[in-house]
Amino acid sequence: MNNLEEVIRFLTEYQWIYKHSNTKYLKSGVLDQFPPGWIGSLRSLNQEELNNIPFGRIPQSLDEDLKEFLRTILRLKVDIPIVQIKEDDKDRRSIKGISPKKMKEISSLSFQIHQICQKENIHNLVDLGSGLGYLCQMLFERHKYKILGVECDEERVKSARLRQEKYFPSSRDCVKFVSHFVTEDSWEFLSQELKKAFEIHPDNTSLALVGLHACGDLTVTSVRIFQSTENIRVLAVMPCCYHKMEINSIGKPLNFPLSQRFRTVLTSNPAGDEIPRRPFLRLACQQPASRWKRMSEEEHKIHGNNMFRRAMLDTLVDTDEEVHRIKKARESVIHSDDEFEVAICGFEIRNRNTGTSMPWKSEHRSKWRILSRKYFNGGELSEHLTLLQTTIQEICENMILFDRKVYVEEASAHFRCELLKILDADISPRCVLLLATKTTKS
Ligand SMILES: C[S@@+](CC[C@H](N)C(=O)[O-])C[C@H]1O[C@@H](n2cnc3c(N)ncnc32)[C@H](O)[C@@H]1O
Repeated sequence: MNNLEEVIRFLTEYQWIYKHSNTKYLKSGVLDQFPPGWIGSLRSLNQEELNNIPFGRIPQSLDEDLKEFLRTILRLKVDIPIVQIKEDDKDRRSIKGISPKKMKEISSLSFQIHQICQKENIHNLVDLGSGLGYLCQMLFERHKYKILGVECDEERVKSARLRQEKYFPSSRDCVKFVSHFVTEDSWEFLSQELKKAFEIHPDNTSLALVGLHACGDLTVTSVRIFQSTENIRVLAVMPCCYHKMEINSIGKPLNFPLSQRFRTVLTSNPAGDEIPRRPFLRLACQQPASRWKRMSEEEHKIHGNNMFRRAMLDTLVDTDEEVHRIKKARESVIHSDDEFEVAICGFEIRNRNTGTSMPWKSEHRSKWRILSRKYFNGGELSEHLTLLQTTIQEICENMILFDRKVYVEEASAHFRCELLKILDADISPRCVLLLATKTTKS
């Protein structure tokens, strides 16, 4: 990411687009920050023009300032190389209990893992956050690796073992599952477990750490284990759920930014230092633009209205109260003409301190009426806010991914790290593999 300074300047200037969560943007006055010229020109677009904006098609009719915003996004986008595999018929065979999406994910990731492990002459793997063991079983079925699946959720470990007994009994000696919460100090534990499971000497056996959708901080933890353990020669993880990263007492993620380079650039700009907060992390793992392209006029309308209604509810309650989802709205209410009834169905008010539930009152209805008049086109504006978020989502995600790549490489001149898109984002939104290797034994 050579243009980091420019990316930060851009994200700083347009912080209003993503700074507040999608329930708080109305209360925080985001819709009032929409430049008037943008509102008018977005309203005049037809469906196709609107759907194509995140793909770099900039309609001539747009306001000049908005066109400049979109041109800047195009200039700042960094393309991550795409290395998708062509699956043969055998690969398309489904495995019981696995969705077609998950099949594609484990199939593509095991292919990439096999490529690199063959090259590095590695036969033993550790799968971090192994869940129900899908990736482990695929790696054994196709390539006969020995794999230790590590998962902190005991129920998932039990299910993984049950699946193994039921569908993959022949993998018993080569695929083992253990329950453990992985931290950067887990090597001692992992080493013991590897010794027990496969009778190897982990300190002088080359190993690979792998992970499919290593959520929250788990990818960063795996990077640290890779950096500090000499014979872990390969790290191949696909991150996800950036918004689940641990946040400190002043609302900032502990693990972003990580690299010296990103830290320096972000902190040297006081407004840039405000970027890494939960709403930014949420946007980074929002649906990528591919889904937006397929949305119909009706779907945009429903999405915008739902988003706006939910944000309205937040503006109605007092500061010591919060809105909670309780159940899905009933069909009969969804189709009611009473907008307020539709909006509150499925939500309740709770006192922030005591958690006590409180009823919706006539004052709320009155405030609702006033706001509805003020933001008569609130649903449409909210959908346009989603459009702006969708156009910058990739830049936000890339910031997190490239920060991790730079962090791996900053630790040693012998570490190499690349980012590869191994799936179509349409199939799997979090489709980037972080692949790190060591050039020599340090
Ligand atoms: C998004 S799920 C992916 C599961 C599996 N890899 C798959 O793709 O089907 C992430 C998994 O990582 C586990 N996990 C998260 N943090 C962990 C940690 N620090 N140590 C062990 N497991 C962890 C979660 O319990 C969850 O099962």
